[in-house]
Amino acid sequence: MNSNLDDGGARLAEQVAAATGANLRQRLLHARGGWAAGEFIPDPLAAQLSTATVFATPRTPVTARFSSTLGDLDGHDGNPGDHGLATRVGGLDLIMFTLPVFFVRNGPDMIAFLRATNSDDPAAVPQFLRDHPEAATALGLAEQSSPITSFTGVTYHSVHAFGLVDATGSTRWARLSWRPLRPLPALDPVSAQAMPRDYLVADLSNRLPARFELTAHLPDRTDEVHDPTQLWQGKETVPLGTLTLTGSESPSAEPDFDTLRLPEGITAPQDQLSEDRSRIYDAARGYRTGRLEIPSPAIR
Ligand code: HEM
Repeated sequence: MNSNLDDGGARLAEQVAAATGANLRQRLLHARGGWAAGEFIPDPLAAQLSTATVFATPRTPVTARFSSTLGDLDGHDGNPGDHGLATRVGGLDLIMFTLPVFFVRNGPDMIAFLRATNSDDPAAVPQFLRDHPEAATALGLAEQSSPITSFTGVTYHSVHAFGLVDATGSTRWARLSWRPLRPLPALDPVSAQAMPRDYLVADLSNRLPARFELTAHLPDRTDEVHDPTQLWQGKETVPLGTLTLTGSESPSAEPDFDTLRLPEGITAPQDQLSEDRSRIYDAARGYRTGRLEIPSPAIR
Protein backbone atom coordinates (compact mmCIF):
# COMPACT_ATOMS: atom_id res chain seq x y z
CA MET A 1 0.00 0.00 0.00
CA ASN A 2 1.30 3.47 -0.81
CA SER A 3 1.79 5.80 2.11
CA ASN A 4 2.36 9.49 1.73
CA LEU A 5 3.66 9.74 5.33
CA ASP A 6 7.41 9.36 4.99
CA ASP A 7 8.02 10.85 8.47
CA GLY A 8 6.04 8.23 10.36
CA GLY A 9 3.16 10.57 11.02
CA ALA A 10 5.06 13.06 13.21
CA ARG A 11 4.59 15.99 10.82
CA LEU A 12 0.89 15.25 10.47
CA ALA A 13 0.45 14.94 14.23
CA GLU A 14 2.07 18.39 14.54
CA GLN A 15 -0.31 19.71 11.88
CA VAL A 16 -3.30 18.30 13.79
CA ALA A 17 -2.08 20.19 16.87
CA ALA A 18 -1.53 23.39 14.87
CA ALA A 19 -4.98 23.17 13.23
CA THR A 20 -6.91 22.48 16.44
CA GLY A 21 -4.79 24.40 18.97
CA ALA A 22 -4.36 21.17 20.95
CA ASN A 23 -1.35 20.59 23.16
CA LEU A 24 1.09 17.94 21.83
CA ARG A 25 1.51 16.72 25.41
CA GLN A 26 -2.15 15.60 25.49
CA ARG A 27 -4.29 13.44 23.20
CA LEU A 28 -4.79 15.76 20.23
CA LEU A 29 -8.34 14.56 19.63
CA HIS A 30 -10.69 12.67 21.96
CA ALA A 31 -8.73 14.17 24.88
CA ARG A 32 -11.43 13.69 27.51
CA GLY A 33 -12.32 10.09 28.11
CA GLY A 34 -12.99 7.35 30.61
CA TRP A 35 -11.77 3.78 30.91
CA ALA A 36 -13.75 0.59 31.31
CA ALA A 37 -12.87 -3.10 31.48
CA GLY A 38 -14.75 -6.30 30.80
CA GLU A 39 -14.83 -9.32 28.54
CA PHE A 40 -15.84 -10.40 25.06
CA ILE A 41 -17.79 -13.61 24.40
CA PRO A 42 -17.98 -14.60 20.71
CA ASP A 43 -21.14 -15.56 18.85
CA PRO A 44 -20.87 -19.03 17.24
CA LEU A 45 -21.38 -17.38 13.81
CA ALA A 46 -18.15 -15.38 14.22
CA ALA A 47 -15.88 -18.42 13.92
CA GLN A 48 -17.56 -19.27 10.59
CA LEU A 49 -16.54 -15.88 9.19
CA SER A 50 -13.04 -15.51 10.64
CA THR A 51 -10.36 -17.71 12.14
CA ALA A 52 -9.28 -14.93 14.56
CA THR A 53 -8.47 -16.28 18.03
CA VAL A 54 -10.93 -13.88 19.68
CA PHE A 55 -13.76 -15.68 17.86
CA ALA A 56 -12.56 -19.13 18.97
CA THR A 57 -11.86 -18.26 22.62
CA PRO A 58 -14.76 -18.51 25.10
CA ARG A 59 -13.89 -15.28 26.98
CA THR A 60 -11.34 -12.59 26.11
CA PRO A 61 -10.53 -9.70 28.52
CA VAL A 62 -11.21 -6.23 27.11
CA THR A 63 -9.82 -2.78 27.87
CA ALA A 64 -11.98 0.08 26.58
CA ARG A 65 -11.76 3.86 26.47
CA PHE A 66 -14.81 6.02 25.75
CA SER A 67 -14.13 9.59 24.62
CA SER A 68 -15.57 12.87 23.46
CA THR A 69 -14.08 14.00 20.18
CA LEU A 70 -13.16 17.61 20.37
CA GLY A 71 -9.54 18.23 21.27
CA ASP A 72 -10.10 20.66 24.06
CA LEU A 73 -10.21 19.25 27.61
CA ASP A 74 -12.36 22.27 28.57
CA GLY A 75 -15.02 21.50 25.94
CA HIS A 76 -18.55 20.43 26.87
CA ASP A 77 -19.55 16.77 26.45
CA GLY A 78 -22.92 17.95 25.10
CA ASN A 79 -21.35 19.93 22.24
CA PRO A 80 -22.18 18.71 18.75
CA GLY A 81 -19.67 16.17 17.47
CA ASP A 82 -19.05 12.51 17.69
CA HIS A 83 -17.91 10.20 20.45
CA GLY A 84 -15.33 7.47 20.44
CA LEU A 85 -14.86 3.96 21.74
CA ALA A 86 -11.43 2.33 21.52
CA THR A 87 -11.22 -1.31 22.56
CA ARG A 88 -8.47 -3.87 22.90
CA VAL A 89 -9.92 -7.36 22.59
CA GLY A 90 -7.00 -9.82 22.74
CA GLY A 91 -4.95 -9.15 19.60
CA LEU A 92 -7.59 -6.90 18.05
CA ASP A 93 -7.74 -3.10 18.46
CA LEU A 94 -10.94 -1.40 17.29
CA ILE A 95 -10.93 2.42 17.39
CA MET A 96 -14.44 3.47 16.45
CA PHE A 97 -16.71 6.49 16.63
CA THR A 98 -20.41 7.29 16.44
CA LEU A 99 -20.68 8.26 12.76
CA PRO A 100 -21.04 5.43 10.21
CA VAL A 101 -18.70 7.12 7.72
CA PHE A 102 -15.72 9.47 7.93
CA PHE A 103 -15.10 12.96 6.55
CA VAL A 104 -11.97 12.22 4.49
CA ARG A 105 -10.01 9.40 2.87
CA ASN A 106 -6.48 10.07 4.19
CA GLY A 107 -4.35 11.97 6.70
CA PRO A 108 -3.44 15.04 4.61
CA ASP A 109 -7.12 15.62 3.76
CA MET A 110 -7.87 15.37 7.49
CA ILE A 111 -5.48 18.26 8.13
CA ALA A 112 -7.29 20.34 5.50
CA PHE A 113 -10.60 19.38 7.14
CA LEU A 114 -9.39 20.36 10.63
CA ARG A 115 -8.02 23.66 9.32
CA ALA A 116 -11.36 24.47 7.68
CA THR A 117 -13.54 23.46 10.64
CA ASN A 118 -11.33 25.36 13.10
CA SER A 119 -11.12 28.48 10.92
CA ASP A 120 -12.84 31.78 11.81
CA ASP A 121 -13.45 32.35 8.10
CA PRO A 122 -17.10 31.41 7.30
CA ALA A 123 -16.02 30.57 3.73
CA ALA A 124 -13.51 27.90 4.87
CA VAL A 125 -15.89 24.94 5.29
CA PRO A 126 -17.87 25.64 2.08
CA GLN A 127 -14.55 25.87 0.21
CA PHE A 128 -13.37 22.59 1.79
CA LEU A 129 -16.61 20.92 0.71
CA ARG A 130 -16.18 22.17 -2.86
CA ASP A 131 -12.67 20.65 -2.87
CA HIS A 132 -13.75 17.48 -1.02
CA PRO A 133 -17.38 16.64 -1.87
CA GLU A 134 -16.85 13.19 -0.30
CA ALA A 135 -16.97 14.91 3.14
CA ALA A 136 -20.60 16.00 2.72
CA THR A 137 -22.18 12.76 4.01
CA ALA A 138 -20.27 12.62 7.31
CA LEU A 139 -20.54 16.38 7.85
CA GLY A 140 -24.32 16.25 7.26
CA LEU A 141 -24.68 13.39 9.76
CA ALA A 142 -22.49 15.19 12.32
CA GLU A 143 -24.60 18.35 11.99
CA GLN A 144 -27.81 16.35 12.57
CA SER A 145 -26.40 14.52 15.62
CA SER A 146 -27.82 15.26 19.08
CA PRO A 147 -26.08 15.22 22.46
CA ILE A 148 -25.93 11.73 23.90
CA THR A 149 -27.26 10.59 27.28
CA SER A 150 -24.45 8.14 28.03
CA PHE A 151 -21.41 6.68 26.30
CA THR A 152 -23.01 3.28 26.90
CA GLY A 153 -26.23 3.97 24.92
CA VAL A 154 -24.94 4.64 21.37
CA THR A 155 -23.50 2.67 18.45
CA TYR A 156 -19.83 3.02 17.45
CA HIS A 157 -18.64 2.28 13.89
CA SER A 158 -15.30 1.28 12.38
CA VAL A 159 -15.90 3.18 9.09
CA HIS A 160 -13.15 0.98 7.58
CA ALA A 161 -13.89 -2.41 5.97
CA PHE A 162 -11.88 -5.24 7.57
CA GLY A 163 -11.23 -8.55 5.79
CA LEU A 164 -12.72 -11.48 7.70
CA VAL A 165 -10.80 -14.58 6.59
CA ASP A 166 -12.45 -17.97 7.14
CA ALA A 167 -10.92 -21.44 7.49
CA THR A 168 -10.94 -21.96 3.69
CA GLY A 169 -8.92 -18.74 3.24
CA SER A 170 -11.77 -16.79 1.65
CA THR A 171 -12.21 -13.14 2.68
CA ARG A 172 -15.43 -11.21 3.32
CA TRP A 173 -15.10 -7.46 3.78
CA ALA A 174 -17.17 -6.00 6.59
CA ARG A 175 -17.53 -2.82 8.60
CA LEU A 176 -17.57 -3.60 12.30
CA SER A 177 -19.72 -1.84 14.90
CA TRP A 178 -20.32 -1.97 18.65
CA ARG A 179 -24.11 -1.75 19.16
CA PRO A 180 -25.51 -1.17 22.68
CA LEU A 181 -27.92 -3.81 23.94
CA ARG A 182 -29.76 -0.96 25.70
CA PRO A 183 -29.75 2.04 23.32
CA LEU A 184 -30.55 5.32 25.09
CA PRO A 185 -32.50 8.25 23.59
CA ALA A 186 -30.62 11.47 22.75
CA LEU A 187 -30.73 14.56 25.01
CA ASP A 188 -32.07 17.86 23.77
CA PRO A 189 -29.24 20.41 23.40
CA VAL A 190 -30.53 22.74 26.14
CA SER A 191 -30.72 19.95 28.75
CA ALA A 192 -27.29 18.70 27.71
CA GLN A 193 -25.67 22.12 28.11
CA ALA A 194 -27.23 22.37 31.61
CA MET A 195 -25.26 19.26 32.65
CA PRO A 196 -21.67 19.45 33.97
CA ARG A 197 -19.27 19.81 31.05
CA ASP A 198 -17.78 16.35 31.72
CA TYR A 199 -21.16 14.67 32.32
CA LEU A 200 -20.46 11.69 30.05
CA VAL A 201 -17.17 10.76 31.67
CA ALA A 202 -18.37 11.51 35.21
CA ASP A 203 -21.45 9.32 34.73
CA LEU A 204 -19.69 6.33 33.12
CA SER A 205 -19.26 4.21 36.26
CA ASN A 206 -22.99 4.62 37.08
CA ARG A 207 -23.88 3.10 33.69
CA LEU A 208 -21.97 -0.14 34.21
CA PRO A 209 -22.42 -2.98 33.62
CA ALA A 210 -23.08 -2.17 29.95
CA ARG A 211 -23.27 -4.57 27.04
CA PHE A 212 -22.54 -4.12 23.34
CA GLU A 213 -22.90 -6.51 20.42
CA LEU A 214 -20.09 -6.60 17.86
CA THR A 215 -21.61 -6.80 14.38
CA ALA A 216 -20.17 -7.26 10.90
CA HIS A 217 -21.99 -5.12 8.30
CA LEU A 218 -21.68 -6.69 4.85
CA PRO A 219 -21.69 -4.60 1.63
CA ASP A 220 -23.94 -4.94 -1.42
CA ARG A 221 -22.32 -5.59 -4.80
CA THR A 222 -22.63 -1.90 -5.68
CA ASP A 223 -21.07 -0.53 -2.47
CA GLU A 224 -17.66 1.20 -2.50
CA VAL A 225 -16.15 -1.24 -0.01
CA HIS A 226 -12.86 0.56 0.63
CA ASP A 227 -14.09 4.15 0.69
CA PRO A 228 -14.67 5.17 4.35
CA THR A 229 -16.60 8.29 3.30
CA GLN A 230 -19.46 6.41 1.57
CA LEU A 231 -22.54 4.89 3.19
CA TRP A 232 -23.33 1.32 2.09
CA GLN A 233 -26.63 0.12 0.67
CA GLY A 234 -25.99 -3.41 2.02
CA LYS A 235 -28.34 -4.27 4.90
CA GLU A 236 -26.98 -7.64 6.07
CA THR A 237 -25.30 -7.77 9.47
CA VAL A 238 -23.84 -10.79 11.26
CA PRO A 239 -23.47 -10.92 15.07
CA LEU A 240 -19.87 -11.59 16.13
CA GLY A 241 -20.18 -11.55 19.91
CA THR A 242 -20.99 -9.63 23.06
CA LEU A 243 -18.88 -7.22 25.08
CA THR A 244 -19.78 -6.80 28.76
CA LEU A 245 -18.11 -3.85 30.49
CA THR A 246 -18.20 -4.08 34.27
CA GLY A 247 -15.40 -1.94 35.75
CA SER A 248 -14.46 1.70 35.19
CA GLU A 249 -10.97 1.59 36.65
CA SER A 250 -8.05 2.91 34.56
CA PRO A 251 -5.68 0.23 33.28
CA SER A 252 -2.24 0.03 34.95
CA ALA A 253 -0.70 0.60 31.49
CA GLU A 254 -2.63 2.35 28.71
CA PRO A 255 -2.98 0.22 25.58
CA ASP A 256 -1.15 1.75 22.60
CA PHE A 257 -4.26 1.59 20.43
CA ASP A 258 -3.34 1.02 16.78
CA THR A 259 -5.74 0.80 13.83
CA LEU A 260 -3.50 -1.90 12.33
CA ARG A 261 -3.20 -4.14 15.41
CA LEU A 262 -5.14 -7.06 13.97
CA PRO A 263 -4.94 -10.81 14.61
CA GLU A 264 -4.49 -13.50 11.98
CA GLY A 265 -7.95 -14.06 10.46
CA ILE A 266 -8.68 -10.31 10.13
CA THR A 267 -6.87 -8.45 7.35
CA ALA A 268 -6.17 -4.72 7.28
CA PRO A 269 -8.50 -2.27 5.59
CA GLN A 270 -7.42 -1.40 2.04
CA ASP A 271 -8.12 2.31 2.45
CA GLN A 272 -5.31 4.86 2.97
CA LEU A 273 -7.04 6.30 6.05
CA SER A 274 -6.38 3.27 8.22
CA GLU A 275 -2.63 3.25 7.51
CA ASP A 276 -2.34 7.02 7.99
CA ARG A 277 -4.21 6.81 11.31
CA SER A 278 -1.84 4.11 12.53
CA ARG A 279 1.21 6.33 11.90
CA ILE A 280 -0.38 9.52 13.25
CA TYR A 281 -1.56 7.81 16.46
CA ASP A 282 1.91 6.38 17.03
CA ALA A 283 3.49 9.83 16.62
CA ALA A 284 0.82 11.56 18.75
CA ARG A 285 1.43 9.01 21.51
CA GLY A 286 5.17 9.54 21.09
CA TYR A 287 4.80 13.28 21.74
CA ARG A 288 2.32 12.70 24.57
CA THR A 289 4.55 10.23 26.42
CA GLY A 290 7.90 11.96 25.77
CA ARG A 291 9.20 9.27 23.37
CA LEU A 292 9.37 11.95 20.66
CA GLU A 293 10.87 15.35 21.30
CA ILE A 294 8.40 18.17 20.73
CA PRO A 295 9.71 20.75 18.25
CA SER A 296 10.14 23.88 20.39
CA PRO A 297 7.80 26.26 18.47
CA ALA A 298 5.01 23.69 18.89
CA ILE A 299 5.26 23.52 22.69
CA ARG A 300 2.36 25.35 24.25
C1 HEM B 1 -6.79 10.90 9.24
C2 HEM B 1 -7.83 10.88 10.08
C3 HEM B 1 -7.63 10.92 11.56
C4 HEM B 1 -6.70 11.60 12.31
C5 HEM B 1 -5.59 12.53 11.80
C6 HEM B 1 -6.95 11.28 13.68
C7 HEM B 1 -6.19 11.75 14.74
C8 HEM B 1 -6.28 11.32 16.03
C9 HEM B 1 -5.33 11.62 17.08
C10 HEM B 1 -4.06 12.48 16.89
C11 HEM B 1 -5.74 11.00 18.20
C12 HEM B 1 -5.05 10.99 19.57
C13 HEM B 1 -4.11 9.80 19.62
C14 HEM B 1 -3.35 9.67 20.94
O1 HEM B 1 -2.79 10.66 21.42
O2 HEM B 1 -3.32 8.55 21.50
C15 HEM B 1 -6.96 10.31 17.87
C16 HEM B 1 -7.68 9.57 18.76
C17 HEM B 1 -8.84 8.92 18.42
N1 HEM B 1 -9.43 8.81 17.18
FE1 HEM B 1 -8.74 9.60 15.48
N2 HEM B 1 -8.04 10.44 13.78
C18 HEM B 1 -8.48 10.19 12.51
C19 HEM B 1 -9.53 9.38 12.15
C20 HEM B 1 -10.36 8.74 13.03
C21 HEM B 1 -11.46 7.88 12.67
C22 HEM B 1 -11.85 7.51 11.24
C23 HEM B 1 -12.02 7.45 13.84
C24 HEM B 1 -13.20 6.54 14.07
C25 HEM B 1 -13.63 5.61 13.20
C26 HEM B 1 -11.25 8.00 14.94
C27 HEM B 1 -11.47 7.77 16.28
C28 HEM B 1 -10.58 8.09 17.29
C29 HEM B 1 -10.75 7.69 18.68
C30 HEM B 1 -11.90 6.87 19.25
C31 HEM B 1 -9.66 8.19 19.38
C32 HEM B 1 -9.37 8.05 20.88
C33 HEM B 1 -8.52 6.81 21.12
C34 HEM B 1 -8.26 6.60 22.59
O3 HEM B 1 -9.24 6.58 23.35
O4 HEM B 1 -7.08 6.45 22.98
N3 HEM B 1 -10.25 8.78 14.41
N4 HEM B 1 -7.27 10.51 16.56
